[in-house]
Amino acid sequence: MNETIKSILGRRSIRSYETAPVEKEKIETILECGRFSPSAMNRQPWHFTVITDRKVLDKISAANRQVLLQSGDEQVRERAKDPDYDNFRGAPMAIVVSGHREAKFAAADCANAIQNMALAAYSLGLGSCYLASFKIAMEKPEGAYLLKELRIPEGFEPLYALSLGHGNETLGERAPRRENTVTYIE
Ligand SMILES: Cc1cc2nc3c(=O)[nH]c(=O)nc-3n(C[C@H](O)[C@H](O)[C@H](O)COP(=O)(O)O)c2cc1C
Repeated sequence: MNETIKSILGRRSIRSYETAPVEKEKIETILECGRFSPSAMNRQPWHFTVITDRKVLDKISAANRQVLLQSGDEQVRERAKDPDYDNFRGAPMAIVVSGHREAKFAAADCANAIQNMALAAYSLGLGSCYLASFKIAMEKPEGAYLLKELRIPEGFEPLYALSLGHGNETLGERAPRRENTVTYIE
């Protein structure tokens, strides 16, 4: 099996991290892999926000927790009661990928960037997790201050994030994949 296939099949979502920061060189390589993802008509309708200040990640999680505590769904409220609630699961950093609101395929383009970065991270010995739950508060009008603090450019909206760090999780079985999801037309 070649190294690319090994990375694709070996990557896992990591939800527990050491506090050690990610090396700057690795961050730059990961970003380069995000920037070189395919995008519709090569419009590259993305913006990358690299957050290495754990206080900022805590602030985002705390704002999300406040929203979830108001949820009509009891299970969601119960989960949010956890005082250690953290969308980033202790990761020392995350990269938020925002898409241009007017680019038709921004969601696909930004998803490509996240996946490229997740594979790059894995190949560099780092753990990562694709995240959508990080933006619960910033999607609300009252959470707009978070967009300002993250300096999300005008016209862009956060779509996905990737938590990154040195994983310290004991991995169980791989998440199973559904059967019968392929049709061959021959
Ligand atoms: C669009 C998208 C959003 C996701 N959001 C979250 C999230 O908010 N929190 C989380 O822990 N995992 C999140 N995941 C990770 C998935 O749960 C994970 O990829 C899936 O369970 C398969 O596991 P694997 O990545 O280890 O193969 C997300 C994945 C995708 C593609």
